Amino acid sequence: MAISESTINEIKYRNDIESVISSYVSLKRRGKNLIGLCPFHNEKTPSFTVYPESGSFYCFGCGAGGDVFTFVKLIENLDYIDAVRLLAERSGVSVQEENFDNSLSKLKERIYEINRETARFFHEYLMSDSGKWALNYLTDRGLKLSTIKHFGLGAAPDSWDSLVSHLKNKGFSFSDMLAANVVGKSQKGSYYDRFRKRVMFPIIDIRGRVIAFSGRAMPGDTSGGKYVNTSDTPVYKKSENLFGMNFAKSHCAESIILVEGNMDVISLHQAGFRNAVAALGTSFTNEQAKLLSRYTKEIILTLDADAAGIKAAARAGEILKNTGLKVRVVSVPDGKDPDEFIKKHGAARFGAVLEGAVNEIEYKLLAAVGDIDVNSDDGKVKYISRAAEIIAESADAVERDVYIGRLSRKYDVSRNALSLRVDQIRKSNLRKDRKKAIGNIMRPKFDTNAPNPEKRLNPSAAAAEECVISVLFSHPDYFEEAYNRLKPDQMVTALNSRIYEKICNVLSQGEALDITAFSGILTDSQMGYLVSIINSDRARDNPFTVLKDSISVILDQRSKKSSSDIKSMDVDEWAENLRKVIENKKRGK
Ligand code: UTP
Ligand code: MN
Repeated sequence: MAISESTINEIKYRNDIESVISSYVSLKRRGKNLIGLCPFHNEKTPSFTVYPESGSFYCFGCGAGGDVFTFVKLIENLDYIDAVRLLAERSGVSVQEENFDNSLSKLKERIYEINRETARFFHEYLMSDSGKWALNYLTDRGLKLSTIKHFGLGAAPDSWDSLVSHLKNKGFSFSDMLAANVVGKSQKGSYYDRFRKRVMFPIIDIRGRVIAFSGRAMPGDTSGGKYVNTSDTPVYKKSENLFGMNFAKSHCAESIILVEGNMDVISLHQAGFRNAVAALGTSFTNEQAKLLSRYTKEIILTLDADAAGIKAAARAGEILKNTGLKVRVVSVPDGKDPDEFIKKHGAARFGAVLEGAVNEIEYKLLAAVGDIDVNSDDGKVKYISRAAEIIAESADAVERDVYIGRLSRKYDVSRNALSLRVDQIRKSNLRKDRKKAIGNIMRPKFDTNAPNPEKRLNPSAAAAEECVISVLFSHPDYFEEAYNRLKPDQMVTALNSRIYEKICNVLSQGEALDITAFSGILTDSQMGYLVSIINSDRARDNPFTVLKDSISVILDQRSKKSSSDIKSMDVDEWAENLRKVIENKKRGK
């Protein structure tokens, strides 16, 4: 662990969870706990619970949960160490930087350095005589020199080892270059440049660090795909970043324009639309939506008018809706992307396109026409009934009324009839929503199987394991009894086995069990899982009996599982397994 346990405990002690969470969420007391509206998903009735006694929180709606560090991590989008630092600062605990010496954070630092050096190398090459081909390509596409410099664009030479040798000369190790994913390793074991003969776009995070690269091939060059991108590395997760966010973040208080490509972002910035960002060659994710929601109020989705574009925008719209952000959709005319449109028609025309951005309902009403022939009576009926469903989605009565009016005039149908239809649909939707909401409480969205995927295959073992964990948290004095009968590696599901192992470590040293011992070793969703277990009622009645019975179930399931594993083994595996069994017997296990 990077920071000493005693420091972590001191920070935790000085940041009681109730006051930390209260500064973000308005909480009401309910018994010994507190409840409020979950900040991690959109909800109208509170299912977010804070448990001051165990220093934890859990949302029954979305499954988010953990301790005070997990909360800060999630709400501020920080990694664990930075969340600890933030709470340390908040409470005036000083954390020695040298305490942070852990190999992962050091590797990250070296990757940032490699990325910075690589970006510099690509940029200098672009500006040199040998990089003329790439600079010509970019200027031919309409980019000004100042834009190229602003975005730190570069080019990778047509060579297998220019970058490798450059980084080597600068003193970086091959293994760090590999970890940064700027270099690849051949089967023969030699190292080569991953980006060759491409114009290079550095991807920069909101703190200004180069975290990854995207390289575009020259037109007509079909070797290796149009774009080559950095894969995920210790400093880069493409599902959590957006291209251009580092620049957009200071121009986006009102709105952010979401586009598809890096070139679109750059063209838009050059044309004065500095609030443009792009998803990094992935389909838009929840994490990206969350990032956006921290910076702006409204998202303007630009979409290619083709079917794929409409589908992608619909998906993004769906994800964005859960963040509470306003969403408008603009369709760029001529089926062009924003970059091409601006080049052809200029910035002012694009501004006009943005002005006409329709809201989500208008967009859906337009898109719903699809292939319906609204001039036929049949088609008209079909369209009106689709449209009524779309209007019914709006929670705003005035808004519904406006569209009912427009539609009834446009298609010459009775306003009353249309309005009645919309109301019917709303009532039926509300019933469905209520059912779904109840279902969600019983069955949290992220919680079910995701953090512990083995639970699906081993439901009874996993349930029994959860009971053991729960009992030990509320009755640590039963530890001896549990440990004598059940060792960590006897648990069936790997996650519970890890959790139980940690519990055993802590309790066998006579220390107090606290979920903070887990916040450095479990992922956020695993923390949510653990918190939901320990705050459940599983251990309330007859905990000792529950513990003993659960252990029997686990041991029983364990032996069933290993015999069914044996059935599916081939001869070699079987022999290997037998060897292990014999060895274990010898060691008296
Ligand atoms: P496009 O093919 O629309 O490219 O892909 P573009 O952005 O318009 O680029 P130009 O104008 O032709 O130069 C949209 C985005 O999808 C990702 C890239 O992030 C790109 O910007 N993509 C596309 C890839 O990651 N890999 C590919 O092979 C293609
Ligand atoms: Mn393009």
